[in-house]
Amino acid sequence: MPQPPYADIMTLPLLVDCDTGIDDAIALSYLAAHPGARITGIVSTGGNVQVEAVHRNNLVLAELLDLDAPIARGAARPLVQEPMYADDTHGPGGLGHAELPEPSRAGDPRSGAQLWVDLARSHPGELVGLVLGPHTNLALALEIEPELPQLLRRLHIMGGAINHRGNTGPTSEWNVAVDPEAAQRVFAAFSTAPQRPVLGSLEATEAVRFTQHELDLFITLAERTGHPVAQILVDALRFYFEFHEADGFGWTAHVHDPLIAAHAVTGEFAGTRPLAVDVELAGTLTRGQTVGDELGRWAREPNVELLTGVRPELFIEHLLGTLETDLR
Ligand code: RIB
Ligand code: CA
Repeated sequence: MPQPPYADIMTLPLLVDCDTGIDDAIALSYLAAHPGARITGIVSTGGNVQVEAVHRNNLVLAELLDLDAPIARGAARPLVQEPMYADDTHGPGGLGHAELPEPSRAGDPRSGAQLWVDLARSHPGELVGLVLGPHTNLALALEIEPELPQLLRRLHIMGGAINHRGNTGPTSEWNVAVDPEAAQRVFAAFSTAPQRPVLGSLEATEAVRFTQHELDLFITLAERTGHPVAQILVDALRFYFEFHEADGFGWTAHVHDPLIAAHAVTGEFAGTRPLAVDVELAGTLTRGQTVGDELGRWAREPNVELLTGVRPELFIEHLLGTLETDLR
């Protein structure tokens, strides 16, 4: 059995930067349920839906998941380009058909960028960052604290499409396409990090495809536990399936973010390989593309560990099993 990547510590202190969103919500629920993970902070980043809606989703989910962690609202827009949102994919509120209660907890008064910096400084060498949405607030955090890559234990990213079609433009993946400048700055800054960031790009995350069988597992989980978050995930996933069917993929759903979370916590369900990557900013057809230098033409050191060899069945069994232990 492979040792988890952080077997030396009891529970992994995590900062989750997400654009909640349906698969972000599953990832947050998984991390809240996993005994080896401790969410020490959440940053709400605009992306799937506007930052206010993301923040509301994070506040409500954290309350229902009994998470006691600061939740900070991120910037209102990307660093340079105009905002774009994915209401068609995640629903206008970000969680599909789910009806959420009003949050009763207030968010943290700090900015998302400041929360990144404060938590990294208060857990030097221990905090593991997860970026499950656009990189806007992490890029802003780097402006406050350029030493952030050295302060974090490791960074895990859902983003990019390397040797794979995009899901936003023909060659671009959503999280990078929303804020390419931010992604480019993050990849550049973390090329000096003690451990290369783990990058879960589309060719890895699209190996995880929910069918009616997985949807039925979530329905059973909600019926058996009666947990409000389990019902929220079912109602959110139904919308997500409807979007994928309308988009020509059939009755299915690509569930991206939970794989990054599970690999960060366990080190399992995928391997990694080093690669030098960068982000195209000027291409008329390819702006926002995450480019991997497979042949070493740039003569640069690799700056990411790219997720490879995903084991989707094992991962999905682990995901549902972990949710089962806590959503009761
Ligand atoms: O491209 C998939 C990514 O974009 C996922 O993180 C999804 O939640 C959206 O943010
Ligand atoms: Ca996301």
